[in-house]
Amino acid sequence: MGATFVAAGASQTQAKRIGDRQKTAARLLRASVERSYDAEVDIDWDEPWLDGKTFGPEHRLSLYGTRIWDKLSPEQRSDLARHEMASVLSFGILAEAGLSAVLFRKLMTGKLADDATRYLLSEIGDETRHSTMFSRMINKLDVEPYRQPKFLIRILSVGAQLIPLGASAWGGTLLIEEVLDRLQRESMISEQVQPHLRQLFKIHVLEEARHITYAREELVRSYQASNRLGKAFHRLVLAVMCAGVLPALANPQVYRRALGMSPLRGALVAQLNPNYRVRATFASEPMVRYFHEVGLITGRVTAKVWKATRALPDDLHEEIFGAPPSTSGSRLKRLVASAVGV
Ligand SMILES: [Fe+2]
Ligand SMILES: [Fe+2]
Repeated sequence: MGATFVAAGASQTQAKRIGDRQKTAARLLRASVERSYDAEVDIDWDEPWLDGKTFGPEHRLSLYGTRIWDKLSPEQRSDLARHEMASVLSFGILAEAGLSAVLFRKLMTGKLADDATRYLLSEIGDETRHSTMFSRMINKLDVEPYRQPKFLIRILSVGAQLIPLGASAWGGTLLIEEVLDRLQRESMISEQVQPHLRQLFKIHVLEEARHITYAREELVRSYQASNRLGKAFHRLVLAVMCAGVLPALANPQVYRRALGMSPLRGALVAQLNPNYRVRATFASEPMVRYFHEVGLITGRVTAKVWKATRALPDDLHEEIFGAPPSTSGSRLKRLVASAVGV
């Protein structure tokens, strides 16, 4: 499966060529009329799962490539895939609720009767349908939804109300949308994946391309409008959000529910898995390159946080730090990894 195929139809927005907000909004509104889906009718929910198909490509699962993975039976691998999918979709509902809250706030500060406002409303409408679709798919997967701990939900809901409506809010939007987009593009063209899921990914990817285009442009506009201190603030907040979101995609409870393994051990294996970096860079690459193009991966502290995300492609890592990322890790890290079964 070529990278070109995965990238086909992805947002081509470039930081140097940002159009007029109202014109972009009008264009995207027209696209919404032409290409919108309703999963209530566009996915055949009554059709049973197919035998022999997976719930996600194995090489993107959190334990893939470890000693523990080698010992799993095909049924256990399939269960892990089903639970990791339910975990991502559960996180997706929370994230879309947070994004929509930010979009509503943006709308309240806008001009109310222009294309930008109407575009925001149409995007909120898309997210509402997406979350409905995710919620139905979690039921179809026959997995209890993965709820985040209460304190985290509080941080997310308060954060969505308080985060300044600037570059970090748009960057955070892209963080969720581009990471899911990249992973879903790969799965939607995989013959191995269950048709219901492929259809869900297609619907989501098609509609999210509009959101990504809009957010990419708004990110540049708002970043350029900030002063020096504001720019540094938004850069740092975005890097911290990225460091938090990437590991949150697989809820540690999946290891207990799918495999009967301790969540702490599962989370440690997932984090220390050498394949983590492969997955993080794959999922983040187009977004990270765009952030770099906009100038968001600069500043000593910010760059260090980005380094910790393990999401920087080798060439960017080398450009920023003068050397490619180290693959060996510290002795302690290697010892812990070996003890937990990486
Ligand atoms: Fe969405
Ligand atoms: Fe979206």
